[in-house]
Amino acid sequence: MIKDFYGDLRLGILGGGQLGRMLIQEAISLNVNVYVLDPDPDAPCKNLCERFVCGRLDDYETVYQFGKQLDMLTIEIEKVNVDALEKLEEEGVLVYPQARVIRLIQDKGLQKQFFKQNDIPTAPFQLLNSKESLRDEQLIPPFIQKLRKDGYDGKGVRKIVTEADFKDAFDAPSVIEEWIDFKKEIAVIVSRNDSGDIKAFPCVEMEFNPDANLVEFLISPAALDPGIQARAEELAIKIAEDLQIVGLLAVEMFLTKDGAILVNELAPRPHNSGHQSIEGNYTSQFAQHLRAIFNLPLGNTEVRLPAVMINLLGSDNHEGLARYEGLEESMAIEGVYVHLYGKKFTKPFRKMGHVCIIHEDREAAINNARKVQGLIKVIV
Ligand SMILES: Nc1ncnc2c1ncn2[C@@H]1O[C@H](COP(=O)(O)OP(=O)(O)O)[C@@H](O)[C@H]1O
Ligand SMILES: [Mg+2]
Repeated sequence: MIKDFYGDLRLGILGGGQLGRMLIQEAISLNVNVYVLDPDPDAPCKNLCERFVCGRLDDYETVYQFGKQLDMLTIEIEKVNVDALEKLEEEGVLVYPQARVIRLIQDKGLQKQFFKQNDIPTAPFQLLNSKESLRDEQLIPPFIQKLRKDGYDGKGVRKIVTEADFKDAFDAPSVIEEWIDFKKEIAVIVSRNDSGDIKAFPCVEMEFNPDANLVEFLISPAALDPGIQARAEELAIKIAEDLQIVGLLAVEMFLTKDGAILVNELAPRPHNSGHQSIEGNYTSQFAQHLRAIFNLPLGNTEVRLPAVMINLLGSDNHEGLARYEGLEESMAIEGVYVHLYGKKFTKPFRKMGHVCIIHEDREAAINNARKVQGLIKVIV
């Protein structure tokens, strides 16, 4: 169906950051015209699309007017006005992922309830409305508190270690979750097209920067028992089926010390944990997202070569016009691929780019990634 007008299709992306930018790189190959809406006049997609509209993603009228002129809309961020997307769906604009999926995933509380209703293993939780109810519910630390809405990159997540930390708790609707002393954080990206075909990418493992609460180091494929890997992939496929999503779905999971898999959270879009797929897999997550939303055959997700992905984060104590140190030395190492997101200004821990390091030998890829990590700095 979509192939009928494929070639001069107008695709809108809500959000013009790095995920949109890498999606545009793939959209060019399919000759799709991309329109982008983002509140930042200097968004990374600004100069790379057919039309860039500067406006708020959470404003009904802005999103509606932007979408009305298009054939299809997708997202690179969940924090968008879903009422406008529902209206556009009613009027015949294709919205993938569907508005109801975005509405559910926007709210970590609804996500957790969805996990429970569908027998998807997840950390035990309860929902709270305010800080006051922390004491009323007589919750015993340690636990994790997460804002139901608008958290990202760890900014809406707090660990409450003792009762003394109650004063620093979020005073907003939140999810209280059991603190999981996990062995590893893993992720599976899965895609589903409108015909119902589903394909999962092989599981990856992550290392977080504990200060920033961001993925710092991602390794593909994960070094896991094949049985565990298969379970993680099956779980991601089940979730995509339960949701009947069209598009990509990133499933973040914890592997516990006793071998259980708990689903942490979902993202219905390309995800930081899939960047290595550009060089490391036969099909990149961005190409796969386009295949899924255009109802094309899904691509081969297999690992082409072991890969390590490093986020290039703004250095601590550096804020201002960004400069990059060590790019040349890094690129002199074979298998090192640099991706800069075109953000003018750096600030501590801002995601400014990423580097993918591939090598036939997984350990050698990890060693080279360590070298690159020591070489590249984002400073002012
Ligand atoms: N229940 C938990 N137990 C232990 N660590 C957790 C728990 N929930 C989240 N975390 C840690 O915090 C990080 C960010 O939490 P997440 O829910 O993924 O929020 P975000 O939307 O910011 O990515 C996780 O990747 C993990 O490292
Ligand atoms: Mg997360």
